Amino acid sequence: MLEARGVDLQRGHRRVLAGVDLAVSPGEFVALCGPNGAGKSSLLAVLSGELLPGAGAALIGGRPIASLPAAVLAAERAVLEQAPSLGAPFTVAALLGLGLACLDRVRIDEGGLIDRALAATGLAGYAARPADRLSGGEQARAHLARVLVQLWAGRATGRGRFLLLDEPTASLDLSHQLMVMRTARAEAQAGAGVVAVLHDLTLAANFADRVIMMSHGRVAAAGRPEEVMEPELLASIYDAPVRVERVQGALHVLPDLGKASLQQPCSPSATGAQQAPGRPAVDIGVSALADGCGNR
Ligand SMILES: Nc1ncnc2c1ncn2[C@@H]1O[C@H](COP(=O)(O)OP(=O)(O)OP(=O)(O)O)[C@@H](O)[C@H]1O
Ligand SMILES: [Mg+2]
Repeated sequence: MLEARGVDLQRGHRRVLAGVDLAVSPGEFVALCGPNGAGKSSLLAVLSGELLPGAGAALIGGRPIASLPAAVLAAERAVLEQAPSLGAPFTVAALLGLGLACLDRVRIDEGGLIDRALAATGLAGYAARPADRLSGGEQARAHLARVLVQLWAGRATGRGRFLLLDEPTASLDLSHQLMVMRTARAEAQAGAGVVAVLHDLTLAANFADRVIMMSHGRVAAAGRPEEVMEPELLASIYDAPVRVERVQGALHVLPDLGKASLQQPCSPSATGAQQAPGRPAVDIGVSALADGCGNR
């Protein structure tokens, strides 16, 4: 079991996690959702052992994560950060090899694991390519492949029990988003406890066993996807109208554009700007960017 128990975390002058409890069992796929700044990456950093909680505890198998030697921790859990950097001009194969650092490599078929991870992430044939010359989505998949290599190598040594993924689908096209979600599910079925931070609530609803919804540093809701994906609950957490539909057995969770104003918060009335004569009422293009609202 991987657990956060009553975790408080301060970052800078801000308390970003307050009394957070979360437990993930081997074989379970948990989606961690919630608005920007809710504390998802901070919680993942506590669960991975990267950040120490100010109060409460993070535990693997009942032992404080902070007490585990680096080599044991590296074998127990693999972590995909939200915005991994390359650090150096690696080839793709060398980048994947980083997943083996700190591990007992004697019992590991390194080449076999790297080939398998390349194939699993749609990067077969990329091994010799410079990783810094891949597209954004290809780089994201190469980092996922690195993390899979680490997880599988840990498993080969009798560990490899947890996989932590921070926004693994963020820069991927539709088919590669599905690839990531199927891979995460497959790893859970192979016995790993998987925690994935996801902004795509439809993917979370259809692939995860359980959804933890965070808001303002706390767990706002937790349960099976159909329990948490309630329009009123999501609307209050995200401060936006949400539509939940079941189509051919799959839950679809989307912003309700029928109810949402497409002009807020960049509408002329919100910004004080005058609407140009003849300009369409819905304009979220160049003029919105010029109003400084392009990053919303
Ligand atoms: N290094 C830091 N120093 C100070 N505050 C931080 C630091 N990192 C994050 N924060 C703050 O902690 C809060 C939680 O951040 P966190 O990155 O955990 O959010 P998140 O839920 O992952 O958001 P997002 O969906 O945008 O990735 C935010 O208010 C953020 O501004
Ligand atoms: Mg984050």
